[in-house]
Amino acid sequence: MHRKEEAAGYERILDMDVKLGQVTIRNPKASLGELAKTFTFDAVYDASSKQADLYDETVRPLVDSVLQGFNGTMFAYGQTGTGKTYTMQGAWADSEKRGVIPNSFEHIFTHISRSQNQQYLVRASYLEIYQEEIRDLLAKDQSKKMELKENPETGVYIKDLSSFVTKNVKEIEHVMNLGNQNRSVGSTNMNEYSSRSHAIFVITVECSEIGPDGEDHIRVGKLNLVDLAGSERQSKMGIQGERPKEASKINLSLSALGNVISALVDGKSTHIPYRDSKLTRLLQDSLGGNAKTIMVATLGPASHSYDESLSTLRFANRAKNIKNKPRVNEDPKDTLLREFQEEIIRLKAQLEKRGMLSKKRRRNSRRKKTLDWEGTPEAEELEDNEDGGLEKNMKNYLKEQKERLEEEKAAIQDDHSLVNEDKQKLLEEKEKMIEELRKEQEATELLATKYKALFRWA
Ligand SMILES: Nc1ncnc2c1ncn2[C@@H]1O[C@H](COP(=O)(O)OP(=O)(O)O)[C@@H](O)[C@H]1O
Ligand SMILES: [Mg+2]
Repeated sequence: MHRKEEAAGYERILDMDVKLGQVTIRNPKASLGELAKTFTFDAVYDASSKQADLYDETVRPLVDSVLQGFNGTMFAYGQTGTGKTYTMQGAWADSEKRGVIPNSFEHIFTHISRSQNQQYLVRASYLEIYQEEIRDLLAKDQSKKMELKENPETGVYIKDLSSFVTKNVKEIEHVMNLGNQNRSVGSTNMNEYSSRSHAIFVITVECSEIGPDGEDHIRVGKLNLVDLAGSERQSKMGIQGERPKEASKINLSLSALGNVISALVDGKSTHIPYRDSKLTRLLQDSLGGNAKTIMVATLGPASHSYDESLSTLRFANRAKNIKNKPRVNEDPKDTLLREFQEEIIRLKAQLEKRGMLSKKRRRNSRRKKTLDWEGTPEAEELEDNEDGGLEKNMKNYLKEQKERLEEEKAAIQDDHSLVNEDKQKLLEEKEKMIEELRKEQEATELLATKYKALFRWA
């Protein structure tokens, strides 16, 4: 209970049995003979549970699956003020109070740093659905409304949604902070706003590995971390002015979520109304499809929350019966890792053509196995070049060319057999060549920068 609830003297109506995974709820206005209701779940967490308990017992296996190439989703569902955001994000400053999202960052990058024969690429997106409009929380232009599109192969996606490649915890935390700042922008009352919007943090993990067939395979797991809008019913919200429309639109995504869940579990529905809302369309795979999904339901334990807590328990109880069909996503089209690998090959060819890459013999080719894909032996070459080889080649080449041109210029100046007009012409020609050399240098530098940047990822 909140301190306020305790101060107001509300009774506690919930009993949690962590061992049995049971929640018992008692109607504070029970009529004579009305029994308390008991619900059973995969896991239950009470007031003495720690963030780490939830993570280690429930979320860690999900994130492990994502690292293996499964899709994963975690929803936080419940009445405003009962701990959805605390569960998903928690208190960042206190390591014990960090929620699922920061814990998953640590988990993912620790796993990657310990991996031996895989290459990983992690990227993050952050979006929000508010009044059935999708906002890209990482976009420069926050006013832009995003569109849902459908691809017959990859399913529903958001067109032009920003995503950032991140290579460590610090970078992905930065992405999260950026999005959180944008969430609060434009909201006069953050609490009210966040209780009406759905926030979805998406982490995509691509993993490339040589399979038993000797070929390189890429698996892609997508993790959706969803902090839903408050589940409280409209009647309680004290609606006036603009609110009814807003409230009904929020209820659209949430009630669609409820309807989808009901249709999935009643065993009779032939039609699942995914298309009724942005949320259910976007997360279609998480509900009865190709994903492992966790729903965390947060509950208010005080007597005044009875109606909402009971309805949350019923909602979660229905969701529990959904059967998903998760599978590893192997070698899908359009992976970023593959794109990067191909781009590296292209850039390398261009740099080689310009004579910028040293053609040293491939040595230690066994040592750097993780970086060494078939047909792309750049690993050691970059190693050579990382000690300044690439830069040195570039500098030397340009220096030689420039010196040569300057010498030729001087020779023309000194050539007394030339008439002034011809001299001028020749000098201008050389100037032009120097200018071209400068442009070439810029282009080469750009190539080299790109090449090196890509190499950090792939
Ligand atoms: N398990 C918990 N332990 C301690 N404080 C909590 C816990 N759950 C929620 N809180 C606190 O309760 C308040 C409301 O939680 P919040 O996560 O913002 O709710 P919601 O996102 O569901 O509206 C916050 O101040 C939060 O820090
Ligand atoms: Mg919240």
